[in-house]
Amino acid sequence: MKRRDFLGVSMIASAAMFTNRFSQSAEARIEVLTGEPIGRIAPEIYGHFVEHLGGVVYDGIWVGENSKIPNAGGIRRDLIDALRKIKPSVVRWPGGCFADSYNWRDGIGARGERPRRPNFWVDAPEWPKNAPDGPWKYDTNQFGTNEFLRFCQLIDAQPYLAANLRSLTAKDFYEWVDYCNSPAGSTTLAEMRAANGQREPYKVRYWGVGNESWGCGGNFTPEEYAAEYRRFSEWVPRYGLNLEFIGSGPNGGDLAWSRRFFARLAERGGFGRMAGWALHHYSWNVSQGRTSDWRQGKGDAVNYPVEEWYELLYQAGIMESLITDHWAVMGEFDRQHRVKLVVDEWGAWYKPGTESHNTHLLGQQSTIRDAVLAGLTLDIFHRHADKVSMANVAQLINCLHSLFIAHEDKFVLTPSYHVFDMYAAHQGGQSVRTVFSAPRSSYNRNGVRASIPGLNGSASLQGNQLILTVTNHDVAQTRETEIAVRGATINEISITSLTATNIHEHNSLDNPRAIEPKTSRIEARSGGPFVYRFPPASVTRLQMTMT
Ligand code: AHR
Repeated sequence: MKRRDFLGVSMIASAAMFTNRFSQSAEARIEVLTGEPIGRIAPEIYGHFVEHLGGVVYDGIWVGENSKIPNAGGIRRDLIDALRKIKPSVVRWPGGCFADSYNWRDGIGARGERPRRPNFWVDAPEWPKNAPDGPWKYDTNQFGTNEFLRFCQLIDAQPYLAANLRSLTAKDFYEWVDYCNSPAGSTTLAEMRAANGQREPYKVRYWGVGNESWGCGGNFTPEEYAAEYRRFSEWVPRYGLNLEFIGSGPNGGDLAWSRRFFARLAERGGFGRMAGWALHHYSWNVSQGRTSDWRQGKGDAVNYPVEEWYELLYQAGIMESLITDHWAVMGEFDRQHRVKLVVDEWGAWYKPGTESHNTHLLGQQSTIRDAVLAGLTLDIFHRHADKVSMANVAQLINCLHSLFIAHEDKFVLTPSYHVFDMYAAHQGGQSVRTVFSAPRSSYNRNGVRASIPGLNGSASLQGNQLILTVTNHDVAQTRETEIAVRGATINEISITSLTATNIHEHNSLDNPRAIEPKTSRIEARSGGPFVYRFPPASVTRLQMTMT
């Protein structure tokens, strides 16, 4: 492939990228088939994940009521405001691996009297040098169930709580459900909840039954986990709610985990109130001469060669086959597909070294590459809207694929935040089939030629609005693309584009607005196909008004 340095390619305003006529020269084509629905895009696909890990809770979300940093009852105000704008739908808490060492009782009652406990991650080898002790290592439990559920109320999101299956009992779990959901005044725990400031039940619907039970969540076999899953989830009082249990699913492509668990559950007659099967998939580079060990194989978040740009997007694209492969296995036992996939951890994971502060374990910078990865992944979820009922990007702030970076009073929106903002228009829409054809982007993987699709995307309908989102993966090529919408006439197009002046660009605490989306509005002069030139290394949303 002829490649030119992306550095120095100037950003062209969206309007200049649009032609309202047929183009002989278009090298790529997108067809939107408005008459071929796939499924409703669950707003929960736009979910988040909060773990007591490094700077996620302490410094990220929780600044404390007496802080000079603007806050609502101790919760960072800037974060609340920015989250409300992108309609966060659901937040998973308190882990992750942390969840299977967490006792919910430690985090309720007067804050001054809560116990201090070693955090699950206290000994992690990834801690930045000279990281001081503090609540990130020895949890002071200032942020517990009430604080988290208050956070969800403030941002208008559903809570999704992960039960401790490895180190607490099923009875402890039932009592957590009682504390959160039993009617006002009905039980001793409901009275404790009222004494802690919340008389009415929180009505928590989503409950995760363990986390990574094949690993940090207990190192179980699928059969052992199936027995635990049943013990935890059967006969839990509903308190009038439609509780949705989410099973701890596979690590990436481990189909045996899915098959053996579903087979064991099917032996006892079915899936009960299991609504979701959790899949985790992180993207990291393992190809450029590194070992496949997940701790060793990671690349840098900011200083990467072009090959790593492509390889990371290749890793992200694997999400599509993970969804279809696990779905097929689940269907061998759950023929009606009552249980959907919940991708409750996804994103890019880099080696340590770009964190904004030495208390931010697994903190990393987030460049335009991460924005493209986010768009690519969300588009995959839309294309499988019939299979994926929830997804949670890992993790919200100061951690892996974060939408925010914050330290003390500084607060930054990462390029991935802007993608969530641009893509929010898809929430609740009807996903429709799209056909993309574009030249592939080639690169060198350990001396062997490899390639990934040049363009990726999805479309959805909502009323008279058609949303088409597209990622251009190529670091150098603008893609002139003919776009044909079948079954509808377009009369106005609003185009929002996110790109950068170089492929390493990012928003930092010192330069927080280096990357921001640009919007332009265009009148469509004919009902036919039109041409749009997608800038290199970009994420674009075309919002079309149909007649
Ligand atoms: O997100 C960081 C960790 O990655 C989570 O705690 C765990 O579930 C996964 O392995």
